[in-house]
Amino acid sequence: MRENKLLSLLNQMTLDEKIAQLMQLATPFFKGAKEQGQITGPMAEMGVTDDTIQNSGSVLGASGAQEIINIQRTHMEENRLGIPLLFMSDIVHGFKTIFPVPLAIGCSWDLELTEKSAEIAAREASVSGVHVTFAPMVDLVRDPRWGRVMESTGEDPYLNSEFARAFVRGFQGEELTTDVERVAACVKHFAAYGAAEGGRDYNTVDMSERELRENYLPAYQAALEEGCEMVMTAFNTVFGIPATGNKRLMRQLLREEMEFDGVLISDWGAVKEMIPHGVAENEKEAAYKAISAGVDIEMMTTGYVNHLKELVEEKMVDESIIDEAVLRILQLKEKLGLFENPYRGANVELEPEVIMSAAHRKAARELATKSSVLLKNESILPLKKEKKVALIGPFAESGDILGPWSWLGSRDEAVTMKEGILSKTSRLTVAKGCDIESITDAQTEEALKAASDADVILLALGEDSDMSGEAGCRANIQLPSAQLQLINYLQSLNKPMVAVLFNGRPLDLHGVLDQTDAVLEAWYPGTEGGNAVADLLYGDVNPSGRLTMSFPYHVGQVPVYYNHFNTGRPQGAPDAQERYVSQYLDIPNEPLLPFGFGLSYTTFTYSDLKLSSATMTEEQTLDISITVTNDGPVAGEEVVQLYIHDHSGEVIRPVKELKDFQKISLDAGETADITFTLSENQLRYHHSDLQYKSDPGTFTVFIGRNSQDTMEQTFRLEK
Ligand code: BGC
Repeated sequence: MRENKLLSLLNQMTLDEKIAQLMQLATPFFKGAKEQGQITGPMAEMGVTDDTIQNSGSVLGASGAQEIINIQRTHMEENRLGIPLLFMSDIVHGFKTIFPVPLAIGCSWDLELTEKSAEIAAREASVSGVHVTFAPMVDLVRDPRWGRVMESTGEDPYLNSEFARAFVRGFQGEELTTDVERVAACVKHFAAYGAAEGGRDYNTVDMSERELRENYLPAYQAALEEGCEMVMTAFNTVFGIPATGNKRLMRQLLREEMEFDGVLISDWGAVKEMIPHGVAENEKEAAYKAISAGVDIEMMTTGYVNHLKELVEEKMVDESIIDEAVLRILQLKEKLGLFENPYRGANVELEPEVIMSAAHRKAARELATKSSVLLKNESILPLKKEKKVALIGPFAESGDILGPWSWLGSRDEAVTMKEGILSKTSRLTVAKGCDIESITDAQTEEALKAASDADVILLALGEDSDMSGEAGCRANIQLPSAQLQLINYLQSLNKPMVAVLFNGRPLDLHGVLDQTDAVLEAWYPGTEGGNAVADLLYGDVNPSGRLTMSFPYHVGQVPVYYNHFNTGRPQGAPDAQERYVSQYLDIPNEPLLPFGFGLSYTTFTYSDLKLSSATMTEEQTLDISITVTNDGPVAGEEVVQLYIHDHSGEVIRPVKELKDFQKISLDAGETADITFTLSENQLRYHHSDLQYKSDPGTFTVFIGRNSQDTMEQTFRLEK
């Protein structure tokens, strides 16, 4: 019924109107700013006409109910057919109430809270007028030099898939049309953006199709299975062709095979970037390649509006392809109920009540405590409240703890570490000690003075938020040397030192881990960061985060990830020679801290690993049980992790693969019997002919507290 109306609307549109619908422009174009001379630089050079603006389909980066209502109202008056605009923004880890960055959220292994964080982000965004968020980013990451690892949940395809589902559920809810407190999700960046060569942003990605399917596609697929409405293209190449103009990737894989029939949007400027990539001579050819690949919306470049008409007239592009793209956009508008109510959830009165509400801040604090990972603790934490504390470091009083993609978050409203600690104790002295990347004698002196009378030194260290995120790549992944120097100076005082780290990537922690008594990886914890850190340091909350990306021993190991392959000459094999094995002469093969690692204020022991049978068939399942006991002094949460290894495949198989996990909560002294059920489909993988199936043979199953510390048993899959 409605589909007919959409089709008749489409029939009334001129070709120019259709093409303009495919254009996405940033907010300034819609605010009358052009007349006011506010559109400058590259935006001014785009030469977009008023006609295009009046007929364009969507707006990038608007927020604020009043602003969005105003833009939409003017647009509805000016647009000949009354087609509402879609408002899209990057609401990645919170709108104004900022949650920890996604890499931190991954470390919570808490899917329920993750979903809740996305639901809250959606509620705040939608009351402010936003319809679509450019999230979740589900790119699998293995290279901490890449600044955008903080946007991903880590290096594991299974875990990333679970998080992708949780984010999509949280953003979209169950009924997008009627639930105006939700927003449509856009999974990105299709595909394999996380594999940029050398960890340098936008760089080439070149991998086998088998590898793509095995490790990189599952999380996008999971988001789509959860009903994710949109997909964004990646900046990188896939199979030698930029994703945005890659017909095989988009038409064959995404649309046909993965059955995606929603809106596909290019990343910012990615259509035109086909020129420097070297697959298009000019904007016209780039536009031709993108539309042929099935990209519906062109973000922030003008290939479509400048050239599609010509391409249709020259019979290079069939108008039906443009119709398809327009129809998909109209369908999304329809799904969001915009033809009935173009303002959807935008509500000026409700906005102040909903945004940054106490309940939202509470959820942000809870998730921040669950996302932090305790990396070391030599019996110094939790701190006793009567201890005199010196808080020293560039993050001691910094609100720069929201992380990249928190453009609407306010650093002034973020709880700093000092404020958090002050809520637990007043016995506190504070000094900056150094800046992020420089240190002066005066700063050192002040720090030594502040610490002289303290029982314990709390170091607040890290990377400022510009050091990660988009285009935030680093070849040296240690803490900046000024901060390592600060640690050295303070060591002369011979006092216990606890380092709290605020950063966006796994770091090489030499100079920190070996020089301090305890280390808490807080990542960018968001608006409630200082409170969450204080809750953990003082033991009001027991740390439970577990790393979802390996921390390298040295940048020279990168990429280093737990689910790697063996070689023909693995280290540690019974017949291994001394020299001719796969190893470095100067550093270990293993990362400094493995995937799944994290400490607690209590200890959990694992015993009694049992399999229900020594064999299983395709029809049967296998029960794997283990006993976990909290034999420490306090209640705590443990992430019980299940891995498998396929001993012999048609193609090589990883040394371990995460297949399941359970996050459990145990009181001091409590014991739990945990059971996992494994079925044949969890043993499948992509063969050399790309078929996805299992092979009979021997498997090891591992259960443990992280990817290295496990108990194991073997079983056979029989056909
Ligand atoms: C980023 C995307 C983002 C887009 C719109 C691009 O530069 O790569 O992740 O969604 O900008 O802001």
